[in-house]
Amino acid sequence: MTIVREIAGQEHDHVLAFRDEATGLNGFLAIHSLKAGPAVGGVRIQPYRSDLAALTDALRLSRAMTYKVALAELPCGGGKAVIVDHPGFKREAAMQEFGRFVEQCGGRFFTGPDAGVTAEDMVQVRSTTKYCADETSPELGDLAVHTAMGVWHAMRICLAAAKIEEPVVAIQGVGSVGMQLARILHENGCELIVADTNRKRARAAAKEFGAEMVSTDEIVSAICNVFAPCAMGGVISAESIPTLKARVICGSANNVLNAPEDGDELHRLGILYAPDYLANAGGIIRGAEYYFQHRKDSRASIERIGSRMQKVIELSVARDRGTSRIADELAEGLWKHPAHPAGQVRATQGAASPIVDLAAARAKRPVQPGANQTLAPAPPQGVRRDVIPGASRGAARDKRRRATHKRRRRDRIPID
Ligand code: NAI
Repeated sequence: MTIVREIAGQEHDHVLAFRDEATGLNGFLAIHSLKAGPAVGGVRIQPYRSDLAALTDALRLSRAMTYKVALAELPCGGGKAVIVDHPGFKREAAMQEFGRFVEQCGGRFFTGPDAGVTAEDMVQVRSTTKYCADETSPELGDLAVHTAMGVWHAMRICLAAAKIEEPVVAIQGVGSVGMQLARILHENGCELIVADTNRKRARAAAKEFGAEMVSTDEIVSAICNVFAPCAMGGVISAESIPTLKARVICGSANNVLNAPEDGDELHRLGILYAPDYLANAGGIIRGAEYYFQHRKDSRASIERIGSRMQKVIELSVARDRGTSRIADELAEGLWKHPAHPAGQVRATQGAASPIVDLAAARAKRPVQPGANQTLAPAPPQGVRRDVIPGASRGAARDKRRRATHKRRRRDRIPID
């Protein structure tokens, strides 16, 4: 049985520690915001060196998710779960247990894959919760492919802005997204350099796309004109910036900048940075549109990542500010704007109520493995807006307001 503890979060609506002795499950769920709708965000599994490192990652990643969904104009908030990989981690059972925990959150957190998570892990999570993206659904598709396509749309704008005609792209990490990105770039005539701590993956990319393979120490400073971070965050830092050869940085990794000032430094040096949560939003756009808005196809929405990138570049030039600062301003403007669902709820919201009612959860029968198969794709009512604290207004009024606000936002905030 998973023990859940709520930790006081400063700017987060909820921060939960979860632990299950029997399976070795140990992790954190950070819900940055429930104000605009359910919190969405992947689950990440990493061999974190400490619980504090895992918690810090969850806090930062979930905040970035709020910015990501705000900029993509999705009716959701940001969340993220992180799980500590360690020798006593009984993966299969632990992922089922994690699914039960997600189920207990009652739709306030909707998850999917992130770094370190395999398709098999997702099968286990889905066996015990319906609040998890089902990538086996052909209509939803592979989220890593959608993410990679979004990165490409941001990158092609950056290439044009930086007047790069013969792109040489150094990809750091050819996992789920990096490999798909390599495929798209190869198809679009880019030359590739790859590195991965898993040398088998790097070799596979080298073989399939004729990429040059370099060591993981060399990739950041590889001789290229585009650097595509597709592994972990914090890779652009005061130490790494002086070693960069690239004129453009655009990849899928979250929290690429080690500190906000690193974005200013890139701007000062004339290195064009595609803000991470802008460029890597393709997967979440597809997931949210599929589960919450029932759209059959999200290609046009993912393509709009390109027009957002264009807008950010134009504002960056006009205001002489780094692209990361511009993206933050736009995201905050959208999220805090009274026209945004988050802005409306904020005005009426009191303190967040406890997210997991353990007594009630224990009383409930767990979801039987495979039971969600009959529910996939998750029905719209699977994500219950009525459990969002303070958001108990009628659905019809909600819908009317969102339609009006969508119109207003379209008129007032020239993102696309
Ligand atoms: P993944 O775990 O499938 O791939 C990451 C790859 O990076 C692995 O092959 C790993 O061996 C490699 N790697 C780790 N550290 C490295 C290093 N220091 N140097 C070189 N390679 C290294 O993860 P996935 O899903 O491809 O995600 C990659 C990044 O993109 C993560 O930061 C994730 O948060 C972000 N992201 C992923 C999305 C998705 O749809 N999967 C959506 C949005 C963002």
